[in-house]
Amino acid sequence: MTAESMDKLVALCKRRGFIFQTNEIYGGLQGVYDYGPLGVELKNNLKRSWWNAMVYERDDIEGIDSSILTNPLVLKQSGHEETFSDPLVDCRNCNARIRADHIQDGKCPECGSSDLTDPRPFNLMFKTNVGPVEDGTSFAYLRPETAQQIFTNFKNVLDSTPHHLPFGIAQIGKAFRNEITPRNFIFRVRELEQMEMEFFVVPGEDEKWHKTWTDLRVAWWEKQGINRKSLELLDVPKAELAHYSKATIDIMYKYPHGLEELEGIANRTDFDLGSHSRDQSKLGITAKVEKNTKSNAKLAVQDPETKEWVVPYVIEPAAGVERGVLAILNEAYKVEELENGKERTVLSLKPHLSPIKAAIIPLKRNNKDLVNIAKEIKNTLQGLGLGRVLLENSGNIGKSYRRHDEIGTPICITVDFESLENETITIRDRDTMEQSRLDIVAVSEYFKNTINN
Ligand code: GAP
Repeated sequence: MTAESMDKLVALCKRRGFIFQTNEIYGGLQGVYDYGPLGVELKNNLKRSWWNAMVYERDDIEGIDSSILTNPLVLKQSGHEETFSDPLVDCRNCNARIRADHIQDGKCPECGSSDLTDPRPFNLMFKTNVGPVEDGTSFAYLRPETAQQIFTNFKNVLDSTPHHLPFGIAQIGKAFRNEITPRNFIFRVRELEQMEMEFFVVPGEDEKWHKTWTDLRVAWWEKQGINRKSLELLDVPKAELAHYSKATIDIMYKYPHGLEELEGIANRTDFDLGSHSRDQSKLGITAKVEKNTKSNAKLAVQDPETKEWVVPYVIEPAAGVERGVLAILNEAYKVEELENGKERTVLSLKPHLSPIKAAIIPLKRNNKDLVNIAKEIKNTLQGLGLGRVLLENSGNIGKSYRRHDEIGTPICITVDFESLENETITIRDRDTMEQSRLDIVAVSEYFKNTINN
């Protein structure tokens, strides 16, 4: 079961402190959101899981963390200045600005008028002034994708690490898009975070790697708790491909508002490294890239045997953190009917993603003996470094259980008066609601097994 309705997710996110509208007290800022105490944990856990899978569990991918401010020449050469746009339509009746592909039956979605302008391209990149003079000549872009900074660092990484093809460079970070119509909660936002990896391969091996990475990415989303049945693969039609792509497979997820892109896996060929290289004609670049680059780099590798220079092809799995968070919350959300006729809301998050890994709850609020034991357990579990462990001195076990079900805490540990006598506690499992008695000395092992599984 999923939330099925965006409203339920938005309400839960606000009520429990996952996601807030940014600058809400001033009326907000459209298409921009903040992550609250639980949201930041969930988001960090998702990013960590991606980084583990991409960088730590492999030896052929390196990570970087590059700047957001980008030299305009980079985005000129990459083709973004010319083509990174959406078709914009104005409504002459109510002055609404609408993305052309969001218009249905030729009518303005705001006022229903058919008096609309023809579509014209609207560039989605944000510009900002650099330095103290605001005359428009000295500006930078806020990067629209993290990928370009990976390409411009290609040689730095290659020269400082012992890699040969194939190898990859991964990055997680903010990207900015001046979306015409941000909508559907955090699905389409203007300030987003991406998890992108550029995998450089020998030309000719690109199609094989494209398939491999598509399979790996689907498997990874399944490990994050997304049911395979909620995912579909879309082979993006040629006419809709981004300017750099030879082929793209989109991993589509059944969001509450419809089937939409969660992640794209593109075959970017030698387009980007070629675009940022000098001497393009000598490098035998196959993609149609703009000539006369001002770059002084040769973004190519030398074949160890033939000594010929090769511009690698690139396979790029590119996922959005916000879209991941939204899909994961939707998948995990359940309302269950209890035997007593009441309902409980549960977030059945995979434990490695849960914002709080365990809550330690003394049965009686502020009882010194119980709180001391709870503190000791908290410190021990926190010291294992598996994520946030909370001592919840609420004194209201029922309320704590309900809250922790709703925020996805996999285990609650209750310290009661029996704990003082025989050094045991009660463990409650979120999903089954089963409670069992456990020796305090065995808690660490139980906790590790639960979180790591
Ligand atoms: N480097 C390739 C690239 O940026 P993309 O398909 O434009 O490709 C990659 O973006 C991912 O970033 C998307 O699959 C989506 O998850 C996320 N994304 C893109 N635009 C977004 C937006 N406005 N709001 C939230 N996520 C977005």
